[in-house]
Amino acid sequence: MIKLAPSILAADFSKLAEEVREVEAAGAELIHIDVMDGHFVPNITMGAIVVEALRPITKLPLDVHLMIENPERYVEQFAAAGADYITVHVEACTHLHRTLQLIRSTGAKSGVVLNPHTPIETILHVLEETDLVLFMTVNPGFGGQKFIHSVIPKVKKLADIIQEQNLSIEIEIDGGINEETIIPCVEAGATILVAGSAIYNAPNRAEALQRIKAAGER
Ligand code: DX5
Ligand code: ZN
Repeated sequence: MIKLAPSILAADFSKLAEEVREVEAAGAELIHIDVMDGHFVPNITMGAIVVEALRPITKLPLDVHLMIENPERYVEQFAAAGADYITVHVEACTHLHRTLQLIRSTGAKSGVVLNPHTPIETILHVLEETDLVLFMTVNPGFGGQKFIHSVIPKVKKLADIIQEQNLSIEIEIDGGINEETIIPCVEAGATILVAGSAIYNAPNRAEALQRIKAAGER
């Protein structure tokens, strides 16, 4: 079974609540929230105040992707706002163990994110602290970019390690997911798939979501 996490980065921000309710009704399993600080990535988006505003309007878990420097400074704030998953970039964390432990101490699930060129060896020593590994298949910063296929072998390699070591870690993929690119992701072992523009820019969001999901489950 796979789970789809629509990214609200591609939604209409003037009616965010409606946009979230629409994908929930269409069968989404999580809501992906892209937090950007203009330093770690060349774009600025939203903060914990948006997570707090969305918390009461959906029952779905909120998957908060922190594309920010020094994410440890904001973990408690996002957890208090209602984040269910908090993911931090390995490239932004000097003390990764500590940051993942901090996330878990708030009750949220801990996730670590790898940019497309970052090797999985950078996270092999924190797997015990990790509930979720998120692989970027675009360089973070913007929606609507092209899927980078060379990430797939990395996903497969980690999926094998998780299986060999009998760990319970979910694998998520983010960037350029559509009904074609979802197929190699699922084959490689991903179970949570983020999709922004492929859902929100579609004329019929519910239909697009169902089509992407069906392609992944085929
Ligand atoms: C990229 C973000 C993604 C993005 C996905 O920096 O982390 O979550 O919104 O958008 P699409 O699906 O359009 O690539
Ligand atoms: Zn994201």
